[in-house]
Amino acid sequence: MSNAVLSLPLTLCSPLQAAREVAQEIADLIRERRAGGRMAVLCLPTGRTPLGVYEELVRMHRDEGLDFANVTTFNLDEFLGLAPEHPQSFRRYMRERFFAHVGLTPAQTWIPFGDVAPAQIEAHCREYEREIADAGGLDYALLGIGRNGHIGFNEPGATRESRTREVRLHEVTRADAAKAFGGLEFVPERAITMGVATILEARRIRVLAFGADKREIVRRTLEAPVGPQAPSTYLRGHADVRLFADEAALGR
Ligand code: PGA
Repeated sequence: MSNAVLSLPLTLCSPLQAAREVAQEIADLIRERRAGGRMAVLCLPTGRTPLGVYEELVRMHRDEGLDFANVTTFNLDEFLGLAPEHPQSFRRYMRERFFAHVGLTPAQTWIPFGDVAPAQIEAHCREYEREIADAGGLDYALLGIGRNGHIGFNEPGATRESRTREVRLHEVTRADAAKAFGGLEFVPERAITMGVATILEARRIRVLAFGADKREIVRRTLEAPVGPQAPSTYLRGHADVRLFADEAALGR
């Protein structure tokens, strides 16, 4: 198949519109699954980009009674070497920004452990894959894109076949995290990430990219040859994928 065939459907909209549309899709999925007596399985990101979606879901829980009792979540990634309570751990981010506000309990929410012993990392990654499979696979994956094209922490060089594993973080990823950590020297060098293949097996994938900082990587995601130079290009051709990007990210 030529690259031209591998398209990535696009919605041009504001971050607020994207947050509302994505949150509504997630709410519809949760309610549809509940009606069928089933769980909805979400794959969730961290970073600045998804905050609007989490805020909207919290609002729906508060104002519209959206119930998360039949939801299981798997986060994309976690820094290695951080305790769960570290201010920059994704576990803490998720609890403070989302889980605690919608009644999602630790038993429903999977995030790789950042403080797993080195000898246990491989087994922990295999277990993560097994839990996703046991949950019936990912129904809905929400993703951001790093400026270097990473999805999760699948950094440039990641293969399409990759699975949940330990990775070395790319210099752009570490530089982008430096401010939050109070200096580059405090940013972990390694992480655990869900693999590209794991993500691509999600039945529905929604990608968010906002702001001029993302313009170049959005262009590459849409147009560059599909391959490990920008793992976000692997999203093209997925059976049910959509990119929500604002004018700044699209250079319009
Ligand atoms: P950001 O990160 O949302 O903070 O821009 C995106 C990503 O690295 O996936």
